[in-house]
Amino acid sequence: MKLPFFLARRFVAGKTFDETIPKIKDLNDKGIKVTLDLLGENVKKKTTADDTVEIYRQLLQEIHNAGLKSTISIKLTMLGMDIDEEYCKNNVFKLLDLAKELNSFVRIDMEGSDYTQRTIDIFKDAFEKYGKHVGIVLQAYLHRTKEDIEELTDLEADIRLCKGAYKEPKLIALQDMADIREAFKNYSKVLLEKTDFPRIATHDEELVDFVKNYTDKNNINKDRFEFQMLYGLRQETMENLTKNGFNARIYVPFGTMWFPYFKRRLMERKENIFFVLKTLLKK
Ligand code: FDA
Repeated sequence: MKLPFFLARRFVAGKTFDETIPKIKDLNDKGIKVTLDLLGENVKKKTTADDTVEIYRQLLQEIHNAGLKSTISIKLTMLGMDIDEEYCKNNVFKLLDLAKELNSFVRIDMEGSDYTQRTIDIFKDAFEKYGKHVGIVLQAYLHRTKEDIEELTDLEADIRLCKGAYKEPKLIALQDMADIREAFKNYSKVLLEKTDFPRIATHDEELVDFVKNYTDKNNINKDRFEFQMLYGLRQETMENLTKNGFNARIYVPFGTMWFPYFKRRLMERKENIFFVLKTLLKK
């Protein structure tokens, strides 16, 4: 069954880049930066992955031409990770060649645990070649993050910390919210102490407050880190954070392949389901 796009409108900025531009401008005008995500994952054909590279390259160019304060976020399974790792890496490098030329930045999102090691491997090769133009994501719920964070902070990588959005078994990931929050707090401290500019990605008030208090007590300047949230969630909080001198960036997804992303947002919070039901009833 094909669901209508209006249901996802709260979480997905538009089907096309042109539709998305006014939303990026509006956020930028409020002092909020953006990272743009062209929706899609688990691509099986090289022609589709090649097209994605081309669209992302155009996107980098258009962001630059329009003077938007936006980077891009990519998923490696959309660039051919399921087809061939070396091919996928070359696709990432094609994006990074342009990102470097335009002085922009590419964040490699983290997907399910089948991809963690391969994502880190490609990131490390990319980081060696492109340095500050590429960053990665670590998920607080994964047991392995304890080691990964040590290795990646030693490299001085640019890291976004999130809880983790995929369903993972107990053997691989923490399951209790209290444990995940505790891990998130500990990893935030590591990132704030050991990296230049950590990205704290959460809508969780307890974690946002933790980071605010920790940085305040330890004299870590507000300009040394950034809060990140998803499009459609807690925008007012983001506006208040910028008004109070914090850096804020919103992850803005767009495109026609919105369903898996939309489903993850619904699974995460019952309020998101209620919102969609309300939208449906209003129709
Ligand atoms: P969570 O959904 O756990 O909610 C915890 C509490 O926060 C709630 O009980 C409520 O109190 C409060 N809260 C949450 N949402 C709220 C709202 N809308 N309004 C008011 N209160 C709210 N995942 C991944 O696996 N790989 C990735 O690359 C990324 N990338 C990424 C980028 C960015 C910018 C963000 C913000 C998140 C991701 N994620 C991700 C998703 C992430 O792993 C996680 O699934 C979601 O952020 C949900 O966890 P939270 O900590 O945000 O709150």
